[in-house]
Amino acid sequence: MTNGSGHPMGRWLRIIALLLVATGVGLWVTRPQPVDATLFDGVIADAGRGATVFAAAGCASCHTAPQSEPSEQPVLAGGRSFASPFGTFFAPNISSDPDFGIGSWTDRQIASAIMRGVGRNGEHLFPAFPYTTYVRAEPQDMADLIAYLRSLPAAQTPNRPHDVGFPFNVRLSLGGWKMLFFNQRYVTPASDDPLVMRGRYLVEALGHCGECHTARNLLGGTDRSAWLRGAPNPAGQGTIPDITPNRLTWSASDIVAYLETGFTPEFDSAGGEMAEVIKNTSRLPAEDRQAIAAYLKALPVSEN
Ligand code: HEC
Ligand code: HEC
Repeated sequence: MTNGSGHPMGRWLRIIALLLVATGVGLWVTRPQPVDATLFDGVIADAGRGATVFAAAGCASCHTAPQSEPSEQPVLAGGRSFASPFGTFFAPNISSDPDFGIGSWTDRQIASAIMRGVGRNGEHLFPAFPYTTYVRAEPQDMADLIAYLRSLPAAQTPNRPHDVGFPFNVRLSLGGWKMLFFNQRYVTPASDDPLVMRGRYLVEALGHCGECHTARNLLGGTDRSAWLRGAPNPAGQGTIPDITPNRLTWSASDIVAYLETGFTPEFDSAGGEMAEVIKNTSRLPAEDRQAIAAYLKALPVSEN
C-alpha cells in the first residue's frame, strides 16, 4: 500500500487535519474569557452597599430555594427551575458554603461568572444566568456585591443538573453564541439627564428587565431592535408586556408606585414573575425606582 499525497487516504488525512485546525482556531477565538486580574485593583468593597446591588440585580429571585420568602439574610441554596425552548435549567447553590456553594471561589472567579459567564473550571455558563446584562456592571458594584454574598448564610444543598438535550447541553458551543449575542454595549444611547442615565444602568446593567420584556430570536439572543417591546413568556403561557411608551401609558409616578408596591394604577396587583421582581425593586432606594421610571418614559416610540 502506497501513501503518497495523491493517494485518497492522504487527501482525507489532510482534510481531517484542516478541520481539526479550523475547529481549534474556532475554539480559541470563542474560548471562555474571565475578567481581567486587575478588575478590582484599588477597589474597597462594602458589603452594606452590596445589599442594594443584590436587590437591583435580582439575584435572590433565582438563587433562593423555591417558595422561600424575602429575608434580610437570604439563603442562596439554589434549586429553582427555568423553562426555556432549549430545556429546563436549575439555579445552582451560590451560598457561602465552601463545598456546596461558592465560599471557596476567589473574587475574580465569582466576578468572571457574573460578568463573563465563565464558571469556576473555565467553562462557559448558560445564558439562563443573565450575565449578558451584568457584563455592563461597574467593578465597584461587583466588589460590593461579592462582599455581601460572602456575608450570607451557608447552605449544604447539592446542585441539580440541568435538563437540557443535545446539542444545547454542549457548553463549548456557547462560545459561538457569546460571539453573536454577548457584548458590553448599552442598548439605548447615553442621555444628558443623570436620572435617565442611572435608570439605564439599573435596567440594562443590573435589573435584567430586558431578559423578560424583550423578544428573542431562534438562537435565544435578545432582539435589540425590539428592546423592552414585550415578548412571549418562555414558560409557555401568555405574553410579557411591552413596557415602552408604545404601550405603557402610565405616568412616571405610576411606574414608581408599581415597582414599590406591585399595584397598578387600576389597583390590580402584579402577577406572575413580575411579583418576584417587585420583591427586589421594593428594596431599592426611592431615587432608584424614580430613575427606572424616568428611563422607561424616555424610551423611543416606534413607528408600528
Ligand atoms: C434569571 C435567573 C438568574 C439570576 C437573576 C441570577 N442567576 Fe446566577 N445563575 C443562574 C443559572 C441558571 C445558573 C447556572 C448556569 C450554568 O450552569 O451554566 C447561574 C449560575 C451562577 C453562578 C455560577 C455558579 C456555579 O456553581 O457555576 C454564580 C456565581 C451566580 N449564578 C451568581 C449570581 C449572582 C451574584 C446573581 C445576581 C447578580 C445571579 N447569579 C443572578 C440563574 C440566575
Ligand atoms: C422574570 C421576568 C421579568 C423580569 C426580569 C421583569 N419583568 Fe416586568 N413583567 C413581567 C411580567 C410577566 C409582567 C406582567 C405582570 C402581570 O401580568 O401582572 C410584567 C409587568 C411589568 C410592568 C407592568 C406593565 C403593564 O402593562 O402591566 C412593568 C412596568 C414592568 N414589568 C417593569 C419591569 C422592570 C422595570 C423590570 C426590571 C427592573 C422588569 N419589569 C423585569 C416579567 C418580568
